[in-house]
Parts: sequence; C-alpha cells; structure tokens
Amino acid sequence: MSLLITNIGELVTNDPAAGDGPLGLIRDAAVVVDGDRVAWVGAKQSAPDADERIDAGNAAVIPGFVDSHAHLVFAGDRAAEFAARMNGEPYTGGGIRTTVAATRAASDESLRTSAARLVGEARRQGTTTIEIKSGYGLSVEDEARSLRIARELTEETTFLGAHVVPAGYSPDAYVDLVCGPMLAAVTPYAKWVDVFCDRGAFDGDQARAILTAGVKAGLTPRVHANQLVAGPGVQVAVELGAASADHCTHLSDTDVSALAGSDTVATLLPGAEFSTRSPYPDARRLLAAGVTVALATDCNPGSSYTSSMSFCLALAVREMRMTPAEALWAATAGGARALRRDDVGVLRAGARADLAILDAPSYLHLAYRPGVPLITEVLHNGVPSNHPATAPDRTEG
Ligand code: NIG
Ligand code: FE
Repeated sequence: MSLLITNIGELVTNDPAAGDGPLGLIRDAAVVVDGDRVAWVGAKQSAPDADERIDAGNAAVIPGFVDSHAHLVFAGDRAAEFAARMNGEPYTGGGIRTTVAATRAASDESLRTSAARLVGEARRQGTTTIEIKSGYGLSVEDEARSLRIARELTEETTFLGAHVVPAGYSPDAYVDLVCGPMLAAVTPYAKWVDVFCDRGAFDGDQARAILTAGVKAGLTPRVHANQLVAGPGVQVAVELGAASADHCTHLSDTDVSALAGSDTVATLLPGAEFSTRSPYPDARRLLAAGVTVALATDCNPGSSYTSSMSFCLALAVREMRMTPAEALWAATAGGARALRRDDVGVLRAGARADLAILDAPSYLHLAYRPGVPLITEVLHNGVPSNHPATAPDRTEG
C-alpha cells in the first residue's frame, strides 16, 4: 500500500542533498511512502502517484522525533519531591531508591501498562523512535523483567543496572552482581549498556568495569555523564567508544575536546535541568567545538517527567541558545546518531516512514509556540495515527 502526503508547505528532510542547509528544507513538497519506508521525497508537482493520499494543507512536516534517552519502566511518581525542589531542595538522585521500591512492588502487568501509556503519550507528540532504560529494578529479576517489558515496546533497550547501589550491597559487591549474573540475565533483551557515572552513583573505575563487561556481552555503551558534577563520565564514554554521553552539564575543556575528537554524541537533556532547577548545559560551547549534539527527554519520574520532545526543543532554544534549526536537528537526526541509526531521523528514499505533520506553517513554531500541541498527525512505520487517508482525486494537478 502506497501513500502520498502532499501540499507540504515546508518539509524538513535532514538530508542536506535534498534542500537548504543541514535540515534539507524543501518548500511545497510531497513524500511518498510505500509500506513502512519512504519511497520518494521532492517537489509536490513531481510526485508519483500512490494508492492513498493525505493533504497536509500547506503545513510543515518533520521527521519523527528520536528520543534517545528515556526511563519508562517504573511505578509510582515523585510529585512531592518535585514540589520540594521547586521550594529550594536540591536534586541528588537519592529519590531513585523511592522509585526502585515502588517498581519492585509492582506487577508485570502494571509496569507494562504504564510504560506503554508513556510510549503512546510520546508518540502522539511526534516521537517515533524511543530508547527505554531499565534502572529501577536493581535486582537480577527486576532488571530482567524491566528490560523484557521495554523490549516489547522498542528495539532500543538499555541495561542501566548501574543506576545507584541498592540497599543491602556494598558498592563492590553490587558492581560484581551487575557485571555477572545481572548482565547475563538481561543480555537477551538489551542492546545498550549504561552507567550513572556521577556523584552519589558510580565512579570512573566502576563505570569502566561495568561498561567493559557489557561490551564483552555484545552491548554497546552509553553513559549518564557529568550531570551533577564534573567527573570522569565523559572521559570514560569517549575512551570506550560510547555512542553517547548524556547530560554533559558540567564539562571541562578536556571533556569538550575529547567529545569533539570522537564519535560519541553529547545528548543534552534540558528537561532535567528544568525539573531540578539546575543550570543548563552549555550547548553553544559544544557546537562551537564541533561536537555532535542530540536532544532527548530523559523522561523519568524523578528528574524530568516529560515525554515531550517539543518542550525540550523549546527549552534548548530559549535556555541553551540553540537555533531552532540546531534544536530540531538534534531532536531528530542527532537522536538517530546517538542510537547509531541511519534509517530514522531523516526523510529520504529508503528511510523508515516516520514523520509528524504540524499544525503550523514552519518548524520554527515548535519553539515559537511552546506548550502548544502542534503535532496533528504522526506516521510511524508508514501507518498514520489518525488522518483519514483518501483515494487520490485524479482530476487534480
Ligand atoms: O537521568 N541521573 C540519573 N538518572 C535519571 C534520574 C533518575 C531519577 O531521579 O529517578 C536522570 O536524570
Ligand atoms: Fe537519564
């Protein structure tokens, strides 16, 4: 089944070969989808025929958001902790243990329902690829079931057994558990391995040991690095060829040059600084050094309980001085780089048919109209969420 989306006022392709700048902008464009793939992209008057059609009514169309950092398998919430922070309490990551207790006590079915609800919430807001981490189980059984549930919802699953040291373990004994039986139990369901390398969590040597064990088991590293303090996280990420160093809020000049000379993406998570009332990462410093920057939500019940990539994009523009074009690229193509994917975050023939139609004439409105639900239609794997596709009107054009 093929589908023509036409009368696109402004199409963001992220394919520099297709049009203007890194966003590959095409005006008065059309996209043809065949099955779950993009079959054709170009000027609307040259579009080939298709079985069905959607008229975008001169709206802007963007690649679906790629949210490369989310923690969606958990129970309960921490609204009271958020309220206390807004009243001056600092964020330490200590609340992670509250969520671990609630998650361990929850049934598989309730964890599955709540994670699926968050994936649906993200999808309606234009996110078509989402990474999901474990990290609120912190026992062999609870990490394995978290990742089993995550794997039902996405192929981008991350083992974050090293989130914090749970009660009842010395740090050394817990690192041994993570590198041994826990890793063995989660490997069938995980693609990535992550460590929270920061004050109050794991140090550089512990992170290196866990990530190295993950690599031996066939997983690829990504690291929660330098969120709370300047520490060894970014250096360890670059040293081990991690796909991404996430947060990057407190960076030394050495960290910035290490990232610039590497394939490791810096994934910025401004929802976390918003919700912990912390200083934002210095995106301009990273961009000026030539670092590849991604934006993601960090959706989790503690530091950033938002599934909205548009909100994070607006924060990046307003608070981190990224241009709207840089922020949109980071939230789509940048996320794809952070997940080492070349089939998402881009609209070109052969890519996945994942896109969002905006109730706006330009992608600029994503930052210009913060908090407004501008995504009116999402295509995921070629399937439209709600637009009734109609048989083409053969009398037209
Ligand atoms: O990415 N920093 C560590 N992990 C999460 C927060 C987890 C929590 O507070 O529950 C983060 O911000
Ligand atoms: Fe996180």
